[in-house]
Amino acid sequence: MTALNARRRRILLTGGTSGIGLELIRRWGDRHEIVTTGRSLSSDLADILENRPSITHAVADQAKPMEAADRIAEALAARDWETLDHAVLNAGTGFAGDPASEDTARLLETLDTNLTSTMLVAQRLFPLLEKGRGTLTLIGSTAHRGAPGFASYAASKAGLNGFARSLREEWRGRIIVQVLHPGPTRTMMHQKAGLDTGRAGTFFTPPAAMAAMIDHAIARRVAGRRLSFLRYWSGESLLARGL
Ligand SMILES: NC(=O)c1ccc[n+]([C@@H]2O[C@H](COP(=O)([O-])OP(=O)(O)OC[C@H]3O[C@@H](n4cnc5c(N)ncnc54)[C@H](OP(=O)(O)O)[C@@H]3O)[C@@H](O)[C@H]2O)c1
Repeated sequence: MTALNARRRRILLTGGTSGIGLELIRRWGDRHEIVTTGRSLSSDLADILENRPSITHAVADQAKPMEAADRIAEALAARDWETLDHAVLNAGTGFAGDPASEDTARLLETLDTNLTSTMLVAQRLFPLLEKGRGTLTLIGSTAHRGAPGFASYAASKAGLNGFARSLREEWRGRIIVQVLHPGPTRTMMHQKAGLDTGRAGTFFTPPAAMAAMIDHAIARRVAGRRLSFLRYWSGESLLARGL
């Protein structure tokens, strides 16, 4: 590990209560300072937080974008953080099914959580990232190109992709902006979205391996990357050298 990689970082990670976010905390928890969020503290995250004052959790419901941005700013102020090394905007949700029958409230929740809230939080964090010469990472999805049964989710991730690519140009030379697109990953997200993945789910990338590939891409500051099952099978998660 290089001297640069050994530096203790300040990281804001949204959606650290389960799935990929929780695995990122497992990777970083002993080496970095972390503020993470979710709508409530999960028991898995509570176990990690025990005896680790370097990790704090804040309740921020991104279905209410303006409130969520306020809660996140307050959580960083509570740690006296005026600079950030990394912001990883990972919180996300979705609905699986026929777009013709998607409940309006659910559709708005998907767009607010995945897109509007992420945009507001990015805007709010920019001054801290700029002071820290930091990196902003948006977690998209391979579904951003369109995905059967996931129309509003795909739309939210396509929006995120366009937003990230715009920010990368707008903020060039001030902070690094990247968008990473995981492929199907073995978390509870599909079940929460109402989709039974059946046997196909056993072929999804394990969340710890996805976290390793994300960590690797953040450390290498790649502009954008699809983190597919093929990439996983190529062994990238085993060779990953992250923050
Ligand atoms: N799993 C996949 O196949 C896959 C593929 C491509 C991209 N992704 C993306 O990867 C990211 C992580 O997903 P995951 O698979 O790890 O799913 P997950 O296990 O369901 O985790 C989702 C995280 O987002 C948080 N979240 C959801 N709704 C929220 C809200 N309204 N306000 C605040 N936080 C909220 C959850 O926290 P609370 O429940 O505590 O609020 C949780 O920490 C998402 O952006 C997802 O779109 C996943």
